[in-house]
Amino acid sequence: MAIGWRWRIKGRRLPGISGVIAMAGIAGGGRVGRLSDRRRREPTSVINLGCSMATVKQGWNTRDIPDQSGRVVIITGGNSGLGYEAARALAGRGAQVVLACRSMPKAEAAMQRIADEPGHRSPIPMQLDVADVDSVHAFAKAFRSRYDRLDVLINNAGIMAIPRQLSRDGFEMQLATNHLGHFALTGLLLPLLQATSGARVVPVSSIAARYARIAFDNLMGERGYSTWHAYNRSKLANLLFGLELHRRLQSVGSGVMSVTAHPGASMTNLFASPGARITKRLLAPLAGPLFHSADRGALPILYAATSPDAQSGGYYGPDGFQETSGDVAAAHVPRAARNRQVAARLWRASESLTGVYYLPD
Ligand SMILES: NC(=O)c1ccc[n+]([C@@H]2O[C@H](COP(=O)([O-])OP(=O)(O)OC[C@H]3O[C@@H](n4cnc5c(N)ncnc54)[C@H](OP(=O)(O)O)[C@@H]3O)[C@@H](O)[C@H]2O)c1
Repeated sequence: MAIGWRWRIKGRRLPGISGVIAMAGIAGGGRVGRLSDRRRREPTSVINLGCSMATVKQGWNTRDIPDQSGRVVIITGGNSGLGYEAARALAGRGAQVVLACRSMPKAEAAMQRIADEPGHRSPIPMQLDVADVDSVHAFAKAFRSRYDRLDVLINNAGIMAIPRQLSRDGFEMQLATNHLGHFALTGLLLPLLQATSGARVVPVSSIAARYARIAFDNLMGERGYSTWHAYNRSKLANLLFGLELHRRLQSVGSGVMSVTAHPGASMTNLFASPGARITKRLLAPLAGPLFHSADRGALPILYAATSPDAQSGGYYGPDGFQETSGDVAAAHVPRAARNRQVAARLWRASESLTGVYYLPD
C-alpha cells in the first residue's frame, strides 16, 4: 500500500511514510501476508506462473556458486554496492565480468579493487548510462563487437527517491534508469543471450514493489510526483518485467531464463539522494536488526544468476523479517506484480517509449 502522507518540520519535507515502510519493510505496509513463515511463502512466486520451484538450499552463499570459467556476465552499476559485491563474487569464481557503468573512473577503480584480490579474474569496465537510450544502443553495439556470448545480464543499476528530473529522452529519471533503460538493454542483447546456452537475465527489484502500482496516465510523474512512489513504481516495473520476460521467452520456446531477485535492505550509496538520506537517518536505529551488508544483499542476485536450482519465472530474496535480510529463499510476489494485463501493457509502453521492440505478445 503506497501512502503518500508527508510531514514538514521547519518547512523541510520528510519522506513519505511509504518510503520509510518500503525501505524498512516494516509492519503497516499491508498486503504481505504472514511473512514470518518462509515455508508458507515459498511457492507463491511460481504458482501463478505454473512451474514448480525447487527449494533453495538453506544458507546458500558464494561458496555455492558453480565455477564460472568461460562465462561472460554484464552487471549494470557494477562499480558500487550490490552490483560491486556481485561482480566481486563472480570474478572470484572465474567469470568474465563486464562492469557496465556510467562513470568510467568509478568502473576502473572497482575493476582494480577486484583484480587486486587473489584468485579474481579482472573485470572489464565499459561505458553505459542506462538512463539514456542512445547510450544503451552504443553499449550494446560495443559489447556485441567484443563478445560472441552473454551468459548473464544482471539489470542492477538504480537510483532511489530523487526529486523529479527528466532523462535526456524526456522520461522520469527513476523509471528511465531503473526500468526503461534495462528494458531496452535486454532487448538489444537478446540475440546474444539466445545464442548462449543456459543464458539468464536477472532483473533486480525490491520489497518497495509491494507499495506500488503502475499509473499509466502518470508514468512520467507529470500529474503529480512523489520521490518514493516513483521509486516503488520503478521497482514494481522491474518485477513485472522479469515475470513477463519469462512468459514471453517460454512462449517462443527460448532457453533463456528470466530470474528476478531483490536484495532486502542494505545501506549502500543508494541512500545518497536527499530524500533517501532523511529516511536513512530515520531508519538508523533499525539498521542493525533489519538491514544486512551489501555482500549478503547480493546473494539473492547471485543465486538468480548462477544457481542450477533457480527457476525461470522465479523471484528470490532474503528470508528474514519482511524479507529485509536473511538467507536466500523464494520471495513474496505482490499482487500488483501478478497482473498479466498490467505486465503486457507496461511491456508495450516500454517498447514504444524506448523504440526497442522484441518478443511480441
Ligand atoms: N540497497 C538496498 O537496500 C536495495 C534494496 C532493494 C533494491 N535495491 C536495488 O539494488 C540495485 C543496486 O543498488 P545499490 O543498493 O547497490 O545502490 P548503489 O550502491 O547506489 O549502486 C547503484 C549503481 O547504479 C549505478 N547507476 C545509477 N544510475 C545509473 C545510470 N544512469 N547508468 C548506469 N549506472 C547507473 C550507480 O552508479 P554511480 O556509482 O555512478 O552512481 C551504481 O553503480 C538497485 O537497482 C536498487 O534499486 C537496493
